[in-house]
Amino acid sequence: MDGICLTDHEKEDSESAMEQEKNSTGDMIGITFGDVGITSLKCNVCKPVDKGEYVMMAHPTADWVLGQVESVERKTNVSVEMAMELSMGEEVDIEETVIAHIKVIGFRDNRGLLKTPGNPFRAGEKIHIAEDDLIRDVLGLKDDENGAFVGRLRGHDIDVKLNINTMAQKHLSVLAKTGSGKSYTTGVIIEEMMKNNVTMVILDPHGEYSSLAKAGNVSTNDFGVKPRGYGDIITEFSPDPEINPGAKPLKFSFRNMKPRKILEMVGVNKTQSNVGALDGAMSRLAASKGFYSISDVIRLLKENEEGDSSSVISGLETLDSKGIFAARGTRMDDIVREGKNAIINLKGSEPDVQAFVVCRLSTALFELRKRNKIPPMMMFAEEAHNFCPQRGKTESSEIFQTIASEGRKFGLGLGIITQRPAKVDKNVLSQCNTQLILKVTNPNDLKAIESSVEGLSKEMAEEVQRLSIGEAIVSGGGLSEPLFLEVRPRESKDGGSSIRVVG
Ligand SMILES: Nc1ncnc2c1ncn2[C@@H]1O[C@H](COP(=O)(O)OP(=O)(O)OP(=O)(O)O)[C@@H](O)[C@H]1O
Ligand SMILES: [Mg+2]
Repeated sequence: MDGICLTDHEKEDSESAMEQEKNSTGDMIGITFGDVGITSLKCNVCKPVDKGEYVMMAHPTADWVLGQVESVERKTNVSVEMAMELSMGEEVDIEETVIAHIKVIGFRDNRGLLKTPGNPFRAGEKIHIAEDDLIRDVLGLKDDENGAFVGRLRGHDIDVKLNINTMAQKHLSVLAKTGSGKSYTTGVIIEEMMKNNVTMVILDPHGEYSSLAKAGNVSTNDFGVKPRGYGDIITEFSPDPEINPGAKPLKFSFRNMKPRKILEMVGVNKTQSNVGALDGAMSRLAASKGFYSISDVIRLLKENEEGDSSSVISGLETLDSKGIFAARGTRMDDIVREGKNAIINLKGSEPDVQAFVVCRLSTALFELRKRNKIPPMMMFAEEAHNFCPQRGKTESSEIFQTIASEGRKFGLGLGIITQRPAKVDKNVLSQCNTQLILKVTNPNDLKAIESSVEGLSKEMAEEVQRLSIGEAIVSGGGLSEPLFLEVRPRESKDGGSSIRVVG
């Protein structure tokens, strides 16, 4: 019998019907075969399916169970000899089968708990493309209006909203190699937190977050993101307002400093006579003036003719030139205001000043939260490997460990951002239960990520090296499984663009 010929028009209709069928949820991709397990299974693929695709299959004891394609392989009968025949232009009969390896994710039981079946799936069972509702339900992608809308599930029209309380209570990390979008993505999270009136302090060594105040240049996008600046919520502070003109000066009260600490900061010997001279001058000023500056102390030491205080004086002059101390420091209740965001712009400050500011502020935030003197809040630290390193100690190492382990009890959430996960204190990194991982290629950093992200499969860990700009793996934040995320565009101006060296 002759085949039935379709007109061009009919062909188009039929192709578009096939395309629609392929894209429609519930579309069958193949049949389970071979040895079938509880946590993984294989299926012969009868319709194209990609690695990472979510699928669903029926199970005798559950309704639909969600799975994910971990890998796809094409098995063929092409031998070396056949390959040679092919290279010589001969015709060869190629037999091939495409096989998908599927990881079982699970289903929600009638109490809403995520479960995996207790016994294997049946061989011969059909595997379908998962329906969006099942994906949402099993992965915990709730349409929570107070959730942080960080983007969409990669390849799907499903919003990913992270639970803000979970992020704040159980800490957050954003990990990626340099230039992969850490600050951009953190900016997205901060925008969402600002919308939800989360009180925040951002420790910003490179001045990448001030631009959150201004509306971005957002082009039309599928995420429904519109330009918005957050200038009404943000106040910027800086130890160096000359370099950062939009910022208010950030100063610390000199009278709150301990003489030994002062000498340590400027590398002056902590001999009994040096400590005694400084302590004496500071005590006298405290008794007579209450508030006093470094220059008051220097003047008093110069007036005192007993002993030699020249090294203390020159140390104090060095400290004064750093410009971080004043008779009256910036008030913490000016920095931390309920529902507002303070950006501590450290751009241009020397590393010792940055270390001092980060240590003093983080300690003050923790102590004030413990005494309930400031609202529950979130503290973000960019370049965290400098403030809580895995090797060696910095001024702020201890307080970061304390906040990571105890912050939850006191309502102080920590957000760690770093380009060197392997160089961040494991005690801190391991306490961050929500992780956003962008492209990472350094083998030590990959290892650090693999060991700190719960539920990250080997296949996903491999993918970290291949993520494109704008893609992330997100774990925690109320999700039941790590998943691939397309980060939504920023509403506010992106402050991290690279500077051209040529042309
Ligand atoms: N989701 C995204 N969509 C569009 N552009 C992005 C996205 N993420 C990052 N970019 C762009 O990629 C570049 C690098 O991003 P970003 O500055 O955030 O990287 P980074 O990891 O913070 O780098 P660094 O380590 O140098 O601070 C920027 O030009 C930014 O605009
Ligand atoms: Mg950055």
